[in-house]
Amino acid sequence: MALDDLYREVILDHYAHPRNRGHLADAHITVEGANPLCGDELSIYVRLEDGVIQDVHFEGRGCSISQASASMMTEEMRGKTLAEARGLVESFKAMMHGQASAFDETDLAALQGVRKFPVRVKCATLAWVALAQGIDEFQQGKPAAVRATTEAPE
Ligand code: FES
Repeated sequence: MALDDLYREVILDHYAHPRNRGHLADAHITVEGANPLCGDELSIYVRLEDGVIQDVHFEGRGCSISQASASMMTEEMRGKTLAEARGLVESFKAMMHGQASAFDETDLAALQGVRKFPVRVKCATLAWVALAQGIDEFQQGKPAAVRATTEAPE
């Protein structure tokens, strides 16, 4: 199977069978992000224990790339500290903007193909940018709010 086909299957599998989709009760971090290019919105919920991410869920609407990326993100974040999670967000954004990938051995590698379609990069980063803002605001003690993704323009 060609690599592009394999990647497409991985994305469609996460889209058809999203991991950790739905509201998470008792979340310590709740954040909403919107893709300004299409208006699609996602909510991210994070539950912490002793400073470590115990559980991450997402819900909302969006294209297959945004939903698959959110699903993969929830799997990647379990068991990470907030600092580690923040670092993973930056690594993922770097990958989506063409830098070397730290995710070659994970499903996330499938999203590298999206780089060929710059307008879709915001779909892939939507959940990640929202999570990063949620973490930042939690650490600053700010309440959650709806916001557009704020990554640098392509
Ligand atoms: Fe809206 Fe992809 S088209 S998130």
